[in-house]
Amino acid sequence: MKGPAESGTAPDRLAVFRADLDGLAAASRQRRLIPRAGVDFASNDYLGLAGAPRLRDAVRAALDAGVPVGAAGSRLLRGNTDWHEAFEAKAAAFFGAESALGFTGGYPANVALISTLPQRGDLLVMDALSHASTREGARLTRAAVAEFRHNDAGHAADVIADWRRGGGRGAAWIAVESLYSMDGDRAPLDDLAALAEREGFLIVDEAHATGVWGPGGRGLGHALEGRECVITLHTLGKALGGSGALLCLPRVLRAFLVNRARPFIFATAPSPLMAAAGAEALDILRDEPDRRQRLHDLVALFGREMATRLPHLPMSGSQIVPLIVGADADAMALAGRVQAAGFDVRGIRPPTVPPGTARLRVSLTLNASAADVTRLAEVLEDAWPAL
Ligand SMILES: Cc1ncc(COP(=O)(O)O)c(C=O)c1O
Repeated sequence: MKGPAESGTAPDRLAVFRADLDGLAAASRQRRLIPRAGVDFASNDYLGLAGAPRLRDAVRAALDAGVPVGAAGSRLLRGNTDWHEAFEAKAAAFFGAESALGFTGGYPANVALISTLPQRGDLLVMDALSHASTREGARLTRAAVAEFRHNDAGHAADVIADWRRGGGRGAAWIAVESLYSMDGDRAPLDDLAALAEREGFLIVDEAHATGVWGPGGRGLGHALEGRECVITLHTLGKALGGSGALLCLPRVLRAFLVNRARPFIFATAPSPLMAAAGAEALDILRDEPDRRQRLHDLVALFGREMATRLPHLPMSGSQIVPLIVGADADAMALAGRVQAAGFDVRGIRPPTVPPGTARLRVSLTLNASAADVTRLAEVLEDAWPAL
């Protein structure tokens, strides 16, 4: 038989990728990059810091003071600067942890943490709605991996007990989000921490709580911070308006990651400018508590508006409000109608959320006014019955 080259037809080496994309399109799941348009009900810039003059001024001042734009190397080589170290010390003190370690984002931080700390003979037990970055770490870990039902601490205990009965002797690493990114609900942190005290460790991803919830915006797990069995992840790219992330953890675990975490060792360090921006963002949290209050007021307003207009839709009680539609195509059609009315609300489909739970994810931020929030509720009321 002749190969493609001999038969004179060029191989279509891109066919497999086109076919995959066609399959996604047929299932209403093809993603596209679209320009920003409409009032922001889609970003994670909850406190409106990404464009805040004070943060911009701080970055400008840092540049003028000689802070380099790029780190120019791994932290273990030339990439470690005084700005990184100062920011980590400041953040550890702010959040109440023994130490902090910076990463270029929450995704690599989670991959580094989850792929490196749980050891062979341990168990990683994660909430069923865990973020993709936690799952990515789970694919790389040497520990056994199990899931527990969303927000069900009793089930987490059962999963660990089953593993112990089967001979599991190591530590159990319980991984949760304090505020879930696509559902806006909260983890039962106290019960999970009690379990972790007995069984191993608790990893709390505070990505969507940092800056917004907990005392002074220190996160929903703030009361647990500093315990030997607790590790938290605080991202800088959401409410803090920049980019990057911090793991807050016991000093010995920080040193272990510096020595063993491949995403930390073999990557260029975060920009020192982001360390400067992060440090300023923490000061803004301290100095401008009214930002948090204004956001909480918007959350309450949206809850009231929706309760009168679409009372059958449950509210999450946080700045992330999932409006569950069900079918992928219906969610995208509804999102399209809301977008056409001038509101940037995105449809979220599987695999980001479980099949059959496609939704609009309404994200409340200070980039929208109270009038915008009321108007969005009106538009949703009009658009929803067309489903
Ligand atoms: C719960 C959670 N963890 C981690 C991340 C990743 O953080 P980053 O965007 O800083 O990479 C996200 C981002 O969407 C998230 O929602």
